[in-house]
Amino acid sequence: MKKSFFAVSSVSLALMLGVGAAIAQDAEPIRIGVAVAQTSNVALLGQEQVIGAEIAAQYFNDLGGINGRPIELVIQDTAGDEAGAINAFNTVIAEGVVGIVGPTLSQQAFAADPIAEAARVPVIAPSNTARGIPEIGAYIARVSAPVALVAPNAVRTALEFDPEIQRVAVFFAQNDAFATSETGTFQETVTALGLELLPVQTFQTTDTDFTTQITNILPLNPDLAIVSGLAADGGNLVRQLRELGYEGLIVGGNGLNTANIFPVCQAFCDGILIAQAYSYSYENEVNSAFRDIYFEQQGKEPPQFSGQAFAGVQVFVEALIELDNTVGLDTLDLAATRDQLNTTLLGLTYDTPLGVISFTPEGEINQGTFYVAQISMNEDGQTGSFVFVNTIDVTAEATPEATPAS
Ligand code: ALA
Repeated sequence: MKKSFFAVSSVSLALMLGVGAAIAQDAEPIRIGVAVAQTSNVALLGQEQVIGAEIAAQYFNDLGGINGRPIELVIQDTAGDEAGAINAFNTVIAEGVVGIVGPTLSQQAFAADPIAEAARVPVIAPSNTARGIPEIGAYIARVSAPVALVAPNAVRTALEFDPEIQRVAVFFAQNDAFATSETGTFQETVTALGLELLPVQTFQTTDTDFTTQITNILPLNPDLAIVSGLAADGGNLVRQLRELGYEGLIVGGNGLNTANIFPVCQAFCDGILIAQAYSYSYENEVNSAFRDIYFEQQGKEPPQFSGQAFAGVQVFVEALIELDNTVGLDTLDLAATRDQLNTTLLGLTYDTPLGVISFTPEGEINQGTFYVAQISMNEDGQTGSFVFVNTIDVTAEATPEATPAS
């Protein structure tokens, strides 16, 4: 039977209370793979994921790891394409990880996740938001809420900011699975809200010049522009939209959800609305700890990609502790550990920096709260911040079976 969405696991409670065993000096580490982009343009997203995963490993090891055994992250660069993700998955699987947090892009997940599925190695997707990710296989789950739940919030917020919006320009990277999925959601939202969808403009994530698409659309006088792409291409598109005279609101999709776009669109990043699945100001024990450690290391507030990567590692850690408590990890070989870890993690509820989360039997995340942030650039045109402007509680829709703990 599905556990209550609001009932926090005993593991979570113990961790919150700091009731963990100390790591024994000669204890054998438990290896968790982290396969994300550390090179290529996709590293603009992936580097934030490595930081989040490393903070999680440090945090949970300080609390005693897996009942006294340390967590060891096996971090492998996927770069930005499918081949890199497949190589990274094969490498970490061969190195004996119990599960994998990764890859960065949905485009990569559709290629690499079947490798883990065939090897019966559980995957927690930390940022794959395209439709259809958990459906790749029984060993694939995600802590990154899908575009259908997240993206519409930004469009609704844009309408609250400017109720006069009527004509909407939509741009998307047609060579990217996530951007293609996200634009579908954006376009459905625009139509459902009774707005006029102008002829949709396409580009490639490798493009740097968007003059053709922008000059196609500006004569139609859009009052809202929506961009689904990745960080470098999306940032350049925003910059060129402004340079060519567009003055209306801009909604950026999840691929633009990083301060790493600031050097790309610079002062022109100002005002972009981006839906969020994480807020650094969310109040619970684990997020306060995560936020403090992140701030101390990075000198700024943690972003969504780091928060989700932390949550991905946390899911493995808490499920491993549960599996050790119930079955005993020392009674299982690697194949059985991977197999039972997958079953265990799908059945628990976790109190994470993203809030209280759980999974559907297919591995889709149940998450109750989303946000919208607006980029505010400083006068230097180089630095800025994400200012949270909206909070959306979707608990009722996201978890129809949920009942409050009594
Ligand atoms: N959310 C983006 C994707 O799924 C990064 O590819």
